[in-house]
Parts: sequence; C-alpha cells; structure tokens
Amino acid sequence: MPNPAVVRCESLSSAADEAAGRVVEGLRRAIDRRGRASIALSGGKTPRETYARLAQPPHLDAVAWGQVEVFWGDERCVPPDHPQSNYRMALDAWLFDAPIPKRNIHRLRGEADPKTAALDYEETLRVTLEAPAREPPRLDLVLLGIGLDGHTASLFPGSPALQERDRLVVATFVQNVNGWRLTATPRLLNAARHVIFLVTGAEKAAILRDVVEGPRLPERLPAQAVQPTDGRLEWLLDRDAAKLLANAESGMRDAE
Ligand code: 6PG
Repeated sequence: MPNPAVVRCESLSSAADEAAGRVVEGLRRAIDRRGRASIALSGGKTPRETYARLAQPPHLDAVAWGQVEVFWGDERCVPPDHPQSNYRMALDAWLFDAPIPKRNIHRLRGEADPKTAALDYEETLRVTLEAPAREPPRLDLVLLGIGLDGHTASLFPGSPALQERDRLVVATFVQNVNGWRLTATPRLLNAARHVIFLVTGAEKAAILRDVVEGPRLPERLPAQAVQPTDGRLEWLLDRDAAKLLANAESGMRDAE
C-alpha cells in the first residue's frame, strides 16, 4: 500500500482534537476554493469525540457551516432514532445543535427498502454535488473507521460491493452482523479529495498493521480498497492503535 500519511497522536482525546482540526481545515479549504464543502461521516463509536469537538468552540465558529453538505459513508438498515443508527449517533454528538441547515444534512434512509434507499442516495449525491454525467461525485472529506476484521464503512471482507465498479452506494446483507447495511462503494470513496481514517485503541493495532503495512488484499482487508484516485489519504491514530506499526516505513510522525 503506498505510504499514506500516518499521524500518531498521544491519546484518543488528542486524536479527536487532531481529527476535528483537520476536518475544519478541509471544510474551510473547500469553501474557499469552491464556495461550499461536503463531508461523509463515519459511524461506529470512534468518531463520536471528534463530532463533539465540532459542536463546540473553536471549531463551531471556524467554518461557514451553512455551506457544508453532510452525508454518511454507511448506515445500518434501522430507523433514524434507533440506537444503532449512525445518523442518530452524529445527531446526538454534533448535528442536532449545529448551525447546519437541515436541508444540508442528507441521511441514508435506513428505515426504507435497502435497495431503494441506496439508489435514492446515489441520486442525492449526484444532484447535491453536481457530478458530471458518468463521473463519480467528489466529496471533499470522508471520515472512516476500521473494524477488527478490516472492514470500513460497511464494506466487509468478501463483500460483493468491493467488486462494484459503477454504483456509488449499495445495499449489502452483512453475515457478521446478520443485517442489511447501506454503504458507499470504493468508487465513491476513492473519488474523494481527502479521506481520513480515525483509528484508536490497542485492539485495533494488529488489523491496522495488516492494512497499512501488510500485503495488499482488499478482498480480505476492505480498508485497503480505499485509495483516493486524486486525493489525500491520512491515518489519524492514537499511540495504542499505532503501537505495532514500523514508524519509519509508514512515514509516521507525531502530530504537532
Ligand atoms: C459502522 C461504521 C464502521 C466503523 C467501524 C469501526 O457503521 O459501524 O461505519 O465502518 O467505522 O466498525 O467502529 P468503531 O469506531 O465502533 O470501532
């Protein structure tokens, strides 16, 4: 895997600080260049601290939030108020009080028929991001996490979505969780201008080493399928998650 930028932070808290700072920087850069910005949020537990920081000063006052379009990289097929909903997690941690117009918050409709919801979301992405025909829409920022099995978004090992070359968002039945998920495909993720993986905790150290420094096996390690075609890829890690990485090879440096 080509050397991504790997940034090691001292703790989960400092990793969340770093992630929030880079999100703000990326959104501001996009708004400066194109008058607006777009971000796809990750689910799971790790990004919650980052979202909470975006809800508070100084980040709360650092972005023209009215120009920001919010999407998700994946969603569980549950209602938006379900405890498992990625939308609900971000709403509770950040978006409920954020100065982002509700029309700019585009949730994946987990309560709908999965295949219909995926197709509808593709259209929302295309229209909102004004994608040229036959080109994938370009998100300015994508936040991702990684599971212990190397999944990211809801791209799980062996998923047919990993072979998808045309679709941007698909519905996929995930055996490991015995449930339907909606997920961005590598085609959408790799069109992004800036992808940030946020990974913390000692339990992720082994899978992180396999993904970042191991042989390229995206079928088995779906996080490896994320390699932006013309965009930045960064891994923001806390010390526990980074402990098995060989610093020199992965171009690791400590966050300032
Ligand atoms: C989801 C996420 C998923 C997540 C990883 C890590 O819907 O669960 O999109 O890809 O990022 O499973 O989750 P944790 O942050 O909870 O470890």
